[in-house]
Amino acid sequence: AICDVKGRVVYDSRGNPTVEADVWTERGRFRASCPSGASTGSREASELRDGGPAWHGKGVTKAVENINNVIAPALQGFDAADQADIDAKMKELDGTSVKSNLGANAILAVSMAVCRAGAAEKNQHVSQHIANLAGNAYLVLPVPCFNMINGGVHSGNLLAFQEFMILPVGAASFKEAMQMASETYQSLKTILLAKFGRNAVNVGDEGGFVPPITEAQEALEILVAAIKDAGYEGKIEIGIDPAASEFHIDGKYDLNFKRNDPTKSNWISSAGLSELYESVVDKFPIAFLEDPFGEEDWNAFVSFTARVNIEVVGDDLLCTNPEIISAAIKDKAVNSLLLKPNQIGTLTEAIEAVRLAKSAGWAVMASHRSGETTDDFIAEMSVGLATGRLKSGATCRGERLAKYNQLLRIEEELGSAVRYAGKNHRFLAWS
Ligand code: PGA
Ligand code: ZN
Repeated sequence: AICDVKGRVVYDSRGNPTVEADVWTERGRFRASCPSGASTGSREASELRDGGPAWHGKGVTKAVENINNVIAPALQGFDAADQADIDAKMKELDGTSVKSNLGANAILAVSMAVCRAGAAEKNQHVSQHIANLAGNAYLVLPVPCFNMINGGVHSGNLLAFQEFMILPVGAASFKEAMQMASETYQSLKTILLAKFGRNAVNVGDEGGFVPPITEAQEALEILVAAIKDAGYEGKIEIGIDPAASEFHIDGKYDLNFKRNDPTKSNWISSAGLSELYESVVDKFPIAFLEDPFGEEDWNAFVSFTARVNIEVVGDDLLCTNPEIISAAIKDKAVNSLLLKPNQIGTLTEAIEAVRLAKSAGWAVMASHRSGETTDDFIAEMSVGLATGRLKSGATCRGERLAKYNQLLRIEEELGSAVRYAGKNHRFLAWS
């Protein structure tokens, strides 16, 4: 049973404070910490920040106090394996629909640490415990979606689209996928050095390079060249997260939003943006487009998803929120869920989000945030929920590799009990 819960302030990969929680049972100490986004959806669960001058307003001391003074006494005596009851208790203690009293950052850190404690209680691997909580019969290693070129609000270049990713779908194992990505990343570095010089190989928040590119087309051409140079043509697909909410202004899209240019002459409509997407989808091996439109542009999502024959992922659009996901299933707004536990605040609700997505035949992609810690919980979660894909940045930066390296260990430890999603990453049933 849980005998104590302790919160503390630690720091994330952007140097901002974040919440860490320790859950103690007779079996020892179980720990987890929260990530934090930069291009956040407006309907995400509330990340409690102190405000005021300290830490430029980003302090999390209140969230940590809420763990120590409110959550800790209430969870004493609970069996850590009773994840749903514990998550429900924390929701009840919070009492709001967006977890703004206690903070989703406080609640999620405890929820994830409880999951690790529950796995120990059951003598199970964390990913197996998560699968059992969800009622999923199959453990699957995700296709990793490596963010090779960073743009948007994660980088200091002028590229509007936020993420250009590679998916080694043609690998036979997770281990091989890592090698393919590692080699492609180095091939890309060589190309960027030759083309733009040393400044081009600085890296962004998610470990991808930040070359002085402005057009998506150019980023894709370079990426395709890197894949070819590394020898993986036909085995690696490309994913794009334009994160279009960031440049959706007054109903239009400003692809020059990082130039601080006030002229609106270049702004395009959702129809113009759709045409741009359709032209790149025709030319490049694109596996998916994530948040191709701003989160308020619901109808643009609906008509685009109906018209194109590719995967359309909802991130800011859905905020891992079961209610919004249900509405999107009804309207066919997207056909794929981006799964970020801190957008909703408990593991139980994240499981519910995946259950809904799978019931509609959608694809699922587990995801890190641009501000991360070295916590590898989402790696375990992606295996346990058979999400089929995990995006956790480049093969660069420790907080990104923490997740991928844990998947290498899981593949080794679980052996034949787990398989690599590979080409079947898009839909994996739970039973
Ligand atoms: P964020 O970006 O963590 O800054 O929100 C990730 C994403 O948009 O997928
Ligand atoms: Zn996104």
